Amino acid sequence: MDRLDKILANLGYGTRKEIKSTIKNGEVKVDGIVVKDNSIKIDPYNCKIEVRGNNIDYRKYIYILMNKPDGVVSATFDNLDETVIDILEPRYQAFKPFPVGRLDKDTRGLLLITNDGDLNHRLISPKNHVDKVYYAEIDRPVDKSDIDKFEKGIVLKDGYKCMPAKLKIIESDEDGSRVEVTIQEGKFHQIKKMFNSLEKNVVYLRRIRFGPIKLEEGLEEGEYRELSKEEIESMKKI
Ligand code: URA
Repeated sequence: MDRLDKILANLGYGTRKEIKSTIKNGEVKVDGIVVKDNSIKIDPYNCKIEVRGNNIDYRKYIYILMNKPDGVVSATFDNLDETVIDILEPRYQAFKPFPVGRLDKDTRGLLLITNDGDLNHRLISPKNHVDKVYYAEIDRPVDKSDIDKFEKGIVLKDGYKCMPAKLKIIESDEDGSRVEVTIQEGKFHQIKKMFNSLEKNVVYLRRIRFGPIKLEEGLEEGEYRELSKEEIESMKKI
């Protein structure tokens, strides 16, 4: 049970003051009856709430899939740069969501954003072996010997030995290469550092899969959508 004004504030219907006047104006119904007391306590999961004739789909958590654009930081707040949270509409910001793990400012692609702390921990823990798949363009050729090095565990220049990873070559010639890399951990700049230790540079990086969730064609950079019930269930099985 929670206060009606708090429930509506959590859903982004304005400040507590604005919501109080919305309620006093008779614009809110609970189970079909106009309610004018903003402090009334109700169970939002089992009551039908309407605001100005629109049914409210109450939920505690939100799960968003964003195609992160270049130049935006994976953080909830930044003094200088736009963040992935700044891009979201206020009705989503109201849930106080945060990105699951990080993509570098110049990395694009699949980023999950949620306010579900438990799921976040499960998804980012290397113990759970969640695959993260990246499409990358490299400034130099790669070959079978690089695939073997990824499989054995690349040793970074700082001495850290990575968990085994999968390198798939899409195309490679003297001008550079296009590859897919699958990793299960998520150290800072991990993919870039893995190639650096082979004296190669990542010139373009886009995440295309996170566990069971794939970035679909048609979701343009900077666009986002809520995950479907099936997608949320598939992540909770991890
Ligand atoms: N590895 C990187 O180097 N950068 C990212 O953003 C993600 C993985």
